[in-house]
Amino acid sequence: MAAVIISGKDLSAQIREELKGRVARLKEKGVTPGLGVVLVGEDPASVSYVTAKAKGSEEIGMFEQTINLPASTAEAEILATVDRLNRDPKFNGILVQLPLPKGVSADKVIAFISPEKDVDGFHPINVGRLLRGEPCPLPCTPYGVVEMLTRAGHSPEGKHVVVCGRSNIVGKPLAALLIQKKKGANATVTVCHTGTKDLRSFTLQADILVAAMGAPKAITADMVREGCVVIDVGVNRVPDPAAAKGFRLVGDCDFEAIKEKAAAITPVPGGVGPMTVTMLLKNTVEAAERLAGISG
Ligand code: GUN
Repeated sequence: MAAVIISGKDLSAQIREELKGRVARLKEKGVTPGLGVVLVGEDPASVSYVTAKAKGSEEIGMFEQTINLPASTAEAEILATVDRLNRDPKFNGILVQLPLPKGVSADKVIAFISPEKDVDGFHPINVGRLLRGEPCPLPCTPYGVVEMLTRAGHSPEGKHVVVCGRSNIVGKPLAALLIQKKKGANATVTVCHTGTKDLRSFTLQADILVAAMGAPKAITADMVREGCVVIDVGVNRVPDPAAAKGFRLVGDCDFEAIKEKAAAITPVPGGVGPMTVTMLLKNTVEAAERLAGISG
């Protein structure tokens, strides 16, 4: 039987409607949630992500400002920009779009963001809080994956989740989130990576398979168990002369073949991508609510 397609676009629209109401309540109290985005350089994928974040912020009634810096900007100036946003009460959330140009230490810049305004959840203090199960902003892509699973009726509780990829942005924080002894988590997690021998022997054991490797069609149908729930985090640009932009977006999974086997699968585009942006908006609204002494 063909898989159910889990639409991140539809789920996002639902969550953004909820957020609109929370922003309106904050505004009644004289608080407008604000997001500051720092974009260094003109990497086309980064520009596209930042545009989606700005558009999403506006749509739910938040204030958003993108600070565009040239690729040649010195690290000290990027740090000064972050410092300005840290001090400015208009901004409840700060995000520095990654990757940063060569010669700039992303670790140093991230550590400079005030942990209370770190809506990406990348600051080492927040990474530590996540691992310890303490309240903190949850990294947006892992948060979006868990929210998608739960809202689509595939709670990870008690399931074996196999995560392919060990990045600081997706694989590692997702594993940390899923092993929490909490509602919506409580999963058994296996993390596979480039050092894994016989990847297929692990992916075939998954109730839920998360592909976050950054390689087109890295997960093929023979690696997926019948009835598995597949979450495709990959966003890869592949050349396509027939497409207006000269490329199209594909995930890390062989979608067409896997959808004949899986119980459910997320598409690319329109799957995890919109959820990532939505969770960023949620983190920013929650940062503003905390400051205003309101609980969501
Ligand atoms: N680059 C790719 N994904 C992300 C993300 O979630 N946050 C930031 N800041 N940069 C990214």
